[in-house]
Amino acid sequence: MPPAPDLTLGREQIARLRGELDLLATHSSTPPPGVTRILFTDTDLAGRAYVRHLMQDAGLTVVQDAAGNIFGRWPGTEPDMGRVGTGSHCDAIPHAGRYDGTVGVLGGIAAVRQLRAAGFVPRRSIDVIMFTSEEPTRFGIGCSGSRLLSSAIKPAALAQLMDEEGVSFDQARRQAGCTGELGDVPLGTGDYAAFVELHVEQGPVLEREQLAIGVVTAIAAPASFVITFRGAGGHAGTVLMPDRQDALVPAALLVCQAETLARTSGSDDTVATAGKLTVHPGAINSIPREVSVSFDVRDTDGAVRDRVVREIREQAHALAQSRGLEVEIRDINADPPQHADSTIVAAIERGCEHTGLPYRRLVSRAYHDALFMARVAPMGMIFVPSVAGISHRPDEFTSDDDIGRGVSVLAHVLVQLAR
Ligand code: GLV
Ligand code: MN
Ligand code: MN
Repeated sequence: MPPAPDLTLGREQIARLRGELDLLATHSSTPPPGVTRILFTDTDLAGRAYVRHLMQDAGLTVVQDAAGNIFGRWPGTEPDMGRVGTGSHCDAIPHAGRYDGTVGVLGGIAAVRQLRAAGFVPRRSIDVIMFTSEEPTRFGIGCSGSRLLSSAIKPAALAQLMDEEGVSFDQARRQAGCTGELGDVPLGTGDYAAFVELHVEQGPVLEREQLAIGVVTAIAAPASFVITFRGAGGHAGTVLMPDRQDALVPAALLVCQAETLARTSGSDDTVATAGKLTVHPGAINSIPREVSVSFDVRDTDGAVRDRVVREIREQAHALAQSRGLEVEIRDINADPPQHADSTIVAAIERGCEHTGLPYRRLVSRAYHDALFMARVAPMGMIFVPSVAGISHRPDEFTSDDDIGRGVSVLAHVLVQLAR
């Protein structure tokens, strides 16, 4: 094997990437320091235009598929071989930080710049990918772009998803200029020989242990569903307590029961979150008639996750029955966990050793586009530290040096995978 080139990012390259991350963060529909970039809104479109510009500036050939996934391609000397993919997402949940996802996209472009500057010539083509809506904010389901690429959702099912304004995914993507057929998006077997995603850890492990790099071994299994209780509304003053069919009370009890079920599942990895509550009619002097509550349940062990999901659903039925209410459960997703590929794990560890960076293996409790890319290619992930483990908050932070280290390890991994 030829000696690996020096791929350490210098002050200038790190400052450039910092400037790009900061500029991307200005494309937000809420004021700083938080970032809100919801799929196919004007801010998302502005962010996408900026990403395309950066890709072109790095000499990548940019194409967008019908779902809005953006690919910046660096053609290899053997373009018919399976490609090497890297990348992540640039959408941001309401009032998020500026690092979640963006570090993997802009960092992927920075890795390409670093490799070009070092004179590297890839044998396999390298794609830097910006996946459409890893976040579930607008259409309710996470990882829509990578889900479709990996055939984990059918094109027609994605097309029909509705946002809260009654706009379908299909309408929204067409309005955003994504033409073509969603049916053409799914990847074929072997299109990618490997996929590696750089991402901020979004948890406390690396900082606590003062490590530069996390080598992801597995991604926890996410599931989400919405439970709706329907009772009888009425006047808050005149309907006496024995006569009520308040739809919010069972929802509130269910949230508490879900917390207990997750805490007592027997697995330290189980988490359950009720993040969205809709109360109808939503007036201070009106008994809630219809209430929907969303649940997000995860575990590294898919069977434990499934059991907790089942228990929450059983509790919902029991609560509705005991109070004479209707209950409806709408499933959104229940995805299996995925393991990283051992050869990519080894490539990341070699990258850390070559750059002299301390690292450890860990599990990703957040989901990522890599969860779906693992269905179509050997997958790996590189984590960089998140200060205090904070994420999905405006004060999310990863230092310039840590981002620079992550990019340089990514560049080393791309060399190993693409040569
Ligand atoms: C991704 O944002 C997740 O919720 O894990
Ligand atoms: Mn996120
Ligand atoms: Mn993310």
